[in-house]
Amino acid sequence: MSDIPRLEIKNLSRSFAGRTVVDDVSLSIMPGQVTCLLGPSGCGKSTTLRMIAGIEMQDSGEIWSDGELICNTVERIPPEGRGIGLMFQDFALFPHLTVAGNVAYGLRGRRAQTRARVEDLLAKVGMSAHIDRYPHELSGGEQQRVALARALAPRPRIMLMDEPFSGLDDRLRDEIRDETLDVLKAEGTAVLLVTHEPAEAMRMADEIALMRGGRIVQTGAPYNIYNTPIDREAAAFFSDINVVSSTVEGALAQTVFGQFLVPGVADGTKVDIVVRPQHLKIDFDRQGKGPNPTIATGTPARGTVKRARFMGGESLVEFTLDDGSEMTAVVPSVFLPKRGMVLWLMIRRDRCFIFPRPVPIPLATEV
Ligand SMILES: Nc1ncnc2c1ncn2[C@@H]1O[C@H](COP(=O)(O)OP(=O)(O)O)[C@@H](O)[C@H]1O
Ligand SMILES: [Mg+2]
Repeated sequence: MSDIPRLEIKNLSRSFAGRTVVDDVSLSIMPGQVTCLLGPSGCGKSTTLRMIAGIEMQDSGEIWSDGELICNTVERIPPEGRGIGLMFQDFALFPHLTVAGNVAYGLRGRRAQTRARVEDLLAKVGMSAHIDRYPHELSGGEQQRVALARALAPRPRIMLMDEPFSGLDDRLRDEIRDETLDVLKAEGTAVLLVTHEPAEAMRMADEIALMRGGRIVQTGAPYNIYNTPIDREAAAFFSDINVVSSTVEGALAQTVFGQFLVPGVADGTKVDIVVRPQHLKIDFDRQGKGPNPTIATGTPARGTVKRARFMGGESLVEFTLDDGSEMTAVVPSVFLPKRGMVLWLMIRRDRCFIFPRPVPIPLATEV
């Protein structure tokens, strides 16, 4: 396999009215790879997608496909010449065309291949039985499948998808996501999928590009992004988090959970120790004593159950610690402690993240 990316964007930027909305974004996607551009609403995802599609012009930066320049700020291949398929949340099928007609629409001028390709794609998306129906005779999920087949009909090199599943209800959504992924993988298309939902990104992506304020702050496989977030905000984007703060002294951060090693961090630096609720370790009270401290789990801190909620598969337990701080744990729902129960909490040293707080840069006028 060639190692030339199917899609490569280099240093793409775009401002509106003096405000930078996409800020020096670079990423590359191989054929058959699904990359999710993940970030909160307004962070610049759709604008990035629109520049790749050619609907929006960048102020600077380049877009390449298979080693061929798609556009820079001087030359540009028009949108219809880019070999790009698009799928948006508010996709619209042509109401006056049948399912077959809608899918064939993308293949104008290629009559000989049309019928076979249409039938093949409709089989892939499980819509063969509906080939002669009209859009109004289909459910939302079925329309979505047809829209996918239509977008894929001309064999796009790249599929750009902007929150394509957000119009579907929960149960259907998971099913369609998985089916869509199977079809895209079978077609070998490079996919850039925009979403603000971490769960969707983790389910769909080979690689996640985490975006914030117009910039890509971290790129990696879902497992890596989740387990080695680059900062506190990146950790918090994927789940609720507990934060224990401390100040470094002699490469150690002292907390109610014992000490944490922070090699190379200067004395006096404030650090946040971040632990996801499902990674908080819990043990029982033994006549006012917790388990013995260990190197792996540190010192246990006493917590009193403030509230425990049954969530089906798991319980959500909120604790008040002796120092007044609060922590939340997620535990299997076979365990649902009563309010007021005393338990001991531990932070496994291999299951937490330690982030030094950025030192504020003084403004020139304050010097
Ligand atoms: N054509 C435009 N003119 C002015 N501002 C825009 C335009 N398009 C997008 N924006 C602004 O750029 C920011 C990013 O928008 P967008 O790319 O749609 O974000 P996302 O898709 O991540 O929610 C938003 O603040 C939005 O209001
Ligand atoms: Mg958007």
